[in-house]
Amino acid sequence: MQYSEKVMDHFMNPRNVGEIEDASGVGTVGNAKCGDIMKVYLKIEDNIVKDAKFKTFGCGAAVATSSMATELIKGKTIQEAMEITNKAVMEALDGLPPIKVHCSCLAEEALHAALWDYAQKNGIVIEGLKEPVNDISEHEEIPEEE
Ligand code: FES
Repeated sequence: MQYSEKVMDHFMNPRNVGEIEDASGVGTVGNAKCGDIMKVYLKIEDNIVKDAKFKTFGCGAAVATSSMATELIKGKTIQEAMEITNKAVMEALDGLPPIKVHCSCLAEEALHAALWDYAQKNGIVIEGLKEPVNDISEHEEIPEEE
């Protein structure tokens, strides 16, 4: 299995690890099939994501994708943040091996869960945002290892 230099860099030196104490939104998602868990904290002011942090109990690709996802979301408006899909995270990391694509889905879902929490707390509706699931493996197929 081959990882890009960017994946290795974000795995070895993850950005934005930690918590935000007075976070505007917090989201936790897991994948019961691999057992990995990701928690994302967002600080949102005036519709802008001012800060993002994460804690990931998971594989290297999960750490790298949460690092990149939190980097990408900082400074974005909420609507721009909704465009940070798992594909966008993977592209920013110069790709992931197929067996590791689901790890980037965990990152996308964790961002969405934190945005959902923010929306709930503030009584707003974010266009295109669906209620998050705690276990993303219920909605996806993880490819078999070859
Ligand atoms: Fe579970 Fe990577 S193996 S998120």
